[in-house]
Amino acid sequence: VANGLAPTPPMGWNSWNKFACKVDEATIRVTADAIASNGMKAAGYSYVVIDDCWHGTRDANGFITEDKARFPSGMKALSDYVHAKGLKFGIYSDAGTKTCGGRPGSQGHEYQDALQYARWGVDYLKYDWCSTGVRNAEEAYALMADALRASGRDILFSICEWGNSRPWLWASKIGNMWRTTGDITDKWTGHHGYSWGVASIADMNEPLWPYAGPGHWNDPDMLEVGNGGMTDIEYRAHFALWAMMAAPLIAGNDVVHMDQPTRAILLNADVIAVDQDAAGVQGHRVWKDGDREVWSKPMADGGRAILLFNRGETPATIAADWTMLGLPASVRMQVCDLWMQKDVGRHTNRYAAQVAPHGVVMLRLKH
Ligand code: DGJ
Repeated sequence: VANGLAPTPPMGWNSWNKFACKVDEATIRVTADAIASNGMKAAGYSYVVIDDCWHGTRDANGFITEDKARFPSGMKALSDYVHAKGLKFGIYSDAGTKTCGGRPGSQGHEYQDALQYARWGVDYLKYDWCSTGVRNAEEAYALMADALRASGRDILFSICEWGNSRPWLWASKIGNMWRTTGDITDKWTGHHGYSWGVASIADMNEPLWPYAGPGHWNDPDMLEVGNGGMTDIEYRAHFALWAMMAAPLIAGNDVVHMDQPTRAILLNADVIAVDQDAAGVQGHRVWKDGDREVWSKPMADGGRAILLFNRGETPATIAADWTMLGLPASVRMQVCDLWMQKDVGRHTNRYAAQVAPHGVVMLRLKH
């Protein structure tokens, strides 16, 4: 989209996966404090986004107000607080009459809402798809994109339509990212009510790789790393898959109280560099045999990021052949293991490793 934002996938934090509808200004403040001081800001996490349930009612002129019980200081003061930490401020609304949490939606108030967000200093809008009736998605999102532009402020636009109207076919001119699936849940795989485990989400998002690029990204939903439902091996696989897919890296855990393994995953600079690579190519699967897969992401330096991915329940040896990666077999590549944080030497032809069940070995190959 021509707003010039998100040349690399957006990074930040969002309240939904951990706090759901129980969000308030105290939570946002301590989260912003933590991100600014625990290494996350330095690693690139910049947007602090309030998801559903911040809204109060519309005032006599139709302008949206914040829930005064939860946000007693007001949105402008909270936005100023986040900005003073050197971070950016994000908010949530919905293209229908009501948000999924039953708060006022933006339908019929698009320009007024965009103006209010600009007055509050909002830098990022996530725009959901509940209570939209017979509305056409492309029309609804294009209208809000126009309203954001007319507000005069640079506001990153995150389209949250869940993939049903195939937004990858129309959204790149309208928004900076679009959800490709239903909601993520803190589980390894499968479909659970209205939500999906991470391995299933990765399968749905992977084939859409040709549609992503600088300024317009496929969004396989926010991270569950650190929320407690998966093992650290599974969380490393989750984070690595999202980085390979050039996905927005929006942390969704309690960053004030995170443990050391969670911190080490979210702050792995080499894995983040794969996600944030300037070429902006979404990586994808290049080989599969049963539960064993090889994924490749072409990098701006001419090398590759590689994932050896074991979906199975027993350890497996997985090999990346240079020919799978579009490299001549004879070329000597320097190989680094990004989770072991170790140079594993120069190799021709192939590189093979043992991969734990539900695990990955993530590699960076350089000429
Ligand atoms: C559905 C979205 O997909 C979620 O990410 C979250 O924003 C909820 N709605 C909020 O109600």
